Amino acid sequence: EKIYIGVDLGGTAIKVGICNEEGQLLHTYEGPTEADKGADAVVSNIEQYVRHIVEQSPFDWEQVAGVGAGVAGFTDVREGIIILAPNVGLRDLPIREILEARLGKPVKIDNDANVAALGEAWGGAGKGIDHCVCATLGTGVGAGIIIHGKIYQGFAGFAGELGHMSVVPDLEAIQCGCGETGCLETVSSATGIIRMANDAVARGERTALSQVEKIMAKDVFDAAKAGDEVAIRIVNRAAFYLGKALAAVAVVLNPEVFIIGGGVSKAGDILFNEVRSVFQKLTPEVAARGVSIVPATLGNDAGMVGAAGLFTRS
Ligand code: BGC
Ligand code: NA
Ligand code: ZN
Repeated sequence: EKIYIGVDLGGTAIKVGICNEEGQLLHTYEGPTEADKGADAVVSNIEQYVRHIVEQSPFDWEQVAGVGAGVAGFTDVREGIIILAPNVGLRDLPIREILEARLGKPVKIDNDANVAALGEAWGGAGKGIDHCVCATLGTGVGAGIIIHGKIYQGFAGFAGELGHMSVVPDLEAIQCGCGETGCLETVSSATGIIRMANDAVARGERTALSQVEKIMAKDVFDAAKAGDEVAIRIVNRAAFYLGKALAAVAVVLNPEVFIIGGGVSKAGDILFNEVRSVFQKLTPEVAARGVSIVPATLGNDAGMVGAAGLFTRS
């Protein structure tokens, strides 16, 4: 029996999963990306986690027929090169070639949000839907555009880089990892939410968050749910710019469903209700009609399933 490994290379964690030929996820393992240690460390971690998960499983290395990886950055899919991964600190890295040499297995790569979108389109919230956009809100903000059931790559492979849509007005804009300012990801990612929370605490605003030693996005959501006004304002701001970006995408691509995944989507209703209301407000009524904004259903698995699916499904 052949198996395929799906790798989800994110800014914070590398998730690896073993899938069978039907694309079912059988085993998973997760370790830190250690982006701060540089490209070599990140690549070594991928290799180590891939070898580790196979060792821990009932399968043999010989059974590994391919390794698919979704990487968190602007990706040249055809050449297998990470052109720029703002949150992983990688640039011009021929990752496919490197991993093939290290692992001795065929490797396919695509953008992390693209493969997550594929996962959701195959077996998650986008199942049976021809046109959808799946946004992933984590360390960064990414998206995969599914048109006629397939990923739309664009000219250089950078279609769906939603996180770098410039939405925040200049006066409030801060620098993004991509080099520009005002990107959606500076406010609607977990990183952005944590930054806004830390800023509020530093300004001495009255909030329960000032009691938290190391604020995580979840702390902000919990505080917002408990009625903390500062936390509510932060969640609403993240939701506002996401809703604004989706409104722009809606009039350009007219997807039927927007699927929202990643850690930030775990905020639930407090986030979704606001995103939907901003979206309705900013999208022409006819263009918003019949379009829904729903949570992803595969959770953390979408990326691994989609990455392994680069072999099993395409
Ligand atoms: C990157 C995208 C990625 C997203 C989510 C962004 O900063 O540019 O390629 O999909 O983060 O990881
Ligand atoms: Na993408
Ligand atoms: Zn950016």
